[in-house]
Amino acid sequence: MSDFKHNSEENYIEIIQRLVKCVVVLILIIIALVVLNIYDITSPRKPKPVPKEKVEKDETASESKKIADVWIAPDSSEISKEKNADQISYGRELIANTAHYLGPKGNVLQMSNGMNCQNCHLKAGTVPFGNNYSAVASTYPKFRERSGGMENIYKRVNDCFERSLNGKSLDTTGKEMQAIVAYIKWLGKDVPKGEKPKGAGLTELAFMDNAADPEKGKIVYVEKCITCHMANGEGKLNGSTYQYPPLWGPNSYNKGAGLYRLSRFAGYVKSNMPQNVTYDAPQLSDEEAWNVAAFVNSQARPEKDLSKDWPKIASKPVDHPFGPYADKFTEQQHKYGPFGPIAEAKKKK
Ligand code: HEC
Ligand code: HEC
Repeated sequence: MSDFKHNSEENYIEIIQRLVKCVVVLILIIIALVVLNIYDITSPRKPKPVPKEKVEKDETASESKKIADVWIAPDSSEISKEKNADQISYGRELIANTAHYLGPKGNVLQMSNGMNCQNCHLKAGTVPFGNNYSAVASTYPKFRERSGGMENIYKRVNDCFERSLNGKSLDTTGKEMQAIVAYIKWLGKDVPKGEKPKGAGLTELAFMDNAADPEKGKIVYVEKCITCHMANGEGKLNGSTYQYPPLWGPNSYNKGAGLYRLSRFAGYVKSNMPQNVTYDAPQLSDEEAWNVAAFVNSQARPEKDLSKDWPKIASKPVDHPFGPYADKFTEQQHKYGPFGPIAEAKKKK
């Protein structure tokens, strides 16, 4: 009897000991999971997309230094490795020498103003902050407020034909459009879906406290731009193609083009003009860039019917220069600034 009692007591203790072991193991597993999770969040294996504000701040802060991990375009000599190498090369050629093929005297079609895509998308869309195409393949199709709908790359390319090249749209099934899109996709092939690399598109300049001043901009123009873009803004032709493209007048971009927005023009010029300037060694101050943008965009240029743009007027960017607006600011202020108060009012809504 006493033996049995002794035995059951032993069993009892053993069970408790096992239970304690189980609990300890469970606690260890939980601790391990928590630690792993924290490690995962902080680990650099999953780079979090950099918030837009942060990128903008870094850009304006860097007056003279290269940005780490800025996008570098794939080497064009690699095109030959692709199955559709001929198509990609033709697309690149069309972007570099658009006028030769599709300008007023184009040998394929006559459907645009004589400018080349790469007058604005420098070196066939490969230059950091030179309005490059790094984020096109990765972010399209996407919703755009300007049209109020989903846009694919064809639509976006035709937007530039109709506005920046003040021309007609290209047949999306045709050889030329297919080639342009093949090239743009090839250029962005190494950018993960949904991501926008550093240096994509244009520099975002901080807003000035005051309005941009066309009179002050004229002084900048005369000092730093006139030798190439000429006193009448119409640039300089060399045969059938521009050595220096026009900045205003009948052969320039129309009023529906991206550069007609002051922030786009100022950002482009800050990092790329006068010719051969790069983002890491700009020549113009922010103020000069805003003012010269105001001067150039107050000159005459082709019109464009924009009645179907921005179907949701509250989504217009602060520097969209045409009303109606969802706020109380004037067309004048939406064109020249100051943009800060408009952006503030927009945030509060
Ligand atoms: C007069 C200047 C100019 C010319 C010429 C021009 N573009 Fe553009 N393009 C722009 C601007 C400005 C933007 C908008 C950039 C921004 O808002 O960041 C743009 C945007 C684009 C985009 C979208 C880029 C993106 O990341 O969302 C594509 C694609 C494009 N252009 C293709 C072309 C093609 C192809 C041509 C030639 C047929 C062309 N562009 C000619 C000024 C120009
Ligand atoms: C040394 C000559 C030169 C000077 C000076 C110069 N540019 Fe340019 N600019 C060019 C060339 C060349 C291009 C086309 C780039 C290309 O095709 O690679 C261009 C393109 C442009 C474009 C885009 C294409 C267009 O015609 O709309 C703008 C905007 C522009 N320049 C503005 C300016 C401003 C503003 C200044 C003065 C701050 C300036 N440039 C000074 C040579 C010059």
